Amino acid sequence: LEFVTFNTSFGKFGIFTCADILFHDPAVVLVSKLQVDTVLFPTAWGNTLPLLSAIQFHSAWAMGMRVNFLSANTRNSSLDMTGSGIYAPNRPRAFHYNTETEDGHLLVAELSSHPRLSPTYPAAVNWSLYAKQISADDNDDHDFNGIIYFDQFIFTELTKPEGNRTVCQKDLCCHLSYRMGEKREDEVYVLGAFDDGFHIVEGKYYLQICTLLKCKNTDLKTCGQPVATALTNFEAFVLSGTFGTNYVFPEVLLSGVQLAPGEFQILSDGRLISQHGTSKPVLTVTLFGRWYEKDLP
Ligand SMILES: *[C@@H]1O[C@H](CO)[C@@H](O)[C@H](O)[C@H]1NC(C)=O
Ligand SMILES: *[C@@H]1O[C@H](CO)[C@@H](O)[C@H](O)[C@H]1NC(C)=O
Ligand SMILES: *[C@@H]1O[C@H](CO)[C@@H](O)[C@H](O)[C@H]1NC(C)=O
Ligand SMILES: *[C@@H]1O[C@H](CO)[C@@H](O)[C@H](O)[C@H]1NC(C)=O
Repeated sequence: LEFVTFNTSFGKFGIFTCADILFHDPAVVLVSKLQVDTVLFPTAWGNTLPLLSAIQFHSAWAMGMRVNFLSANTRNSSLDMTGSGIYAPNRPRAFHYNTETEDGHLLVAELSSHPRLSPTYPAAVNWSLYAKQISADDNDDHDFNGIIYFDQFIFTELTKPEGNRTVCQKDLCCHLSYRMGEKREDEVYVLGAFDDGFHIVEGKYYLQICTLLKCKNTDLKTCGQPVATALTNFEAFVLSGTFGTNYVFPEVLLSGVQLAPGEFQILSDGRLISQHGTSKPVLTVTLFGRWYEKDLP
């Protein structure tokens, strides 16, 4: 394991690759301790919906860690590899997702070379502050278990066009306020919580997750399975959770596997908020927490 950095006249850079992004060393150390301005991330990343497609997770990591992040994914349709981007701490500046051809694509965008000195640098976030203050009970008898990428979540269905919902697993309670354009009969959305410890497939790492997601179809057994398109517009949403970790990566993924730059904000009390909704229907809105201190040495 190495911590690789280099200086330029346009800031300090760090490099790591692929699943390094899921772990404390070297990824978090490069940003928090070695204070790089920009991460270079060449990768061969197989898209794993609903929570770990390339553009979704990599842009969320840039926001959660508050660092510039340049992600260059390879393109291989048989391995479902596509999705590259130029991500600033406050929003994605450019991204590319291609399932049509085997072609590559050049992305160009302007970034602050020292994002910590930029006026748009986001404030530090306490990811549990809001959620721990509000009193809301998880008193829904209709909660049910479901699987996302081998992990067992607790879900609760959003049966109404708007409302306030809470779902808890162990110490993590996830709170959602939402308003849909309309409650469609042909689509089901759930609010889910995961606080069951380690994810153990393709790496062992400790997670806490709150997620609003579209189920694959109207059968509740399909909630958590990959789905790439949706029809339901959300006019507003606010998601928060009682996280034990302060490393949380905020994801918003829209129909067609597209990002939502500038269409949501992170408040310093840990709320992921969209006041005016998104430009396309929602696939998932997620607070993806990594509790590095609980990882095994
Ligand atoms: C990069 O620049 C910083 C600040 O000027 C300095 O502390 C550091 O040692 C340099 N690192 C390298 C790898 O040159
Ligand atoms: C995609 O990956 C497969 C399996 O590793 C490999 O056989 C194939 O050559 C790759 N295709 C491209 C275009 O790189
Ligand atoms: C975040 O806020 C909670 C609730 O007030 C507090 O207990 C916790 O220490 C804060 N965490 C950090 C990292 O400041
Ligand atoms: C949800 O909670 C908010 C703030 O706590 C409140 O203003 C709103 O009326 C609630 N909405 C519903 C549909 O209960």
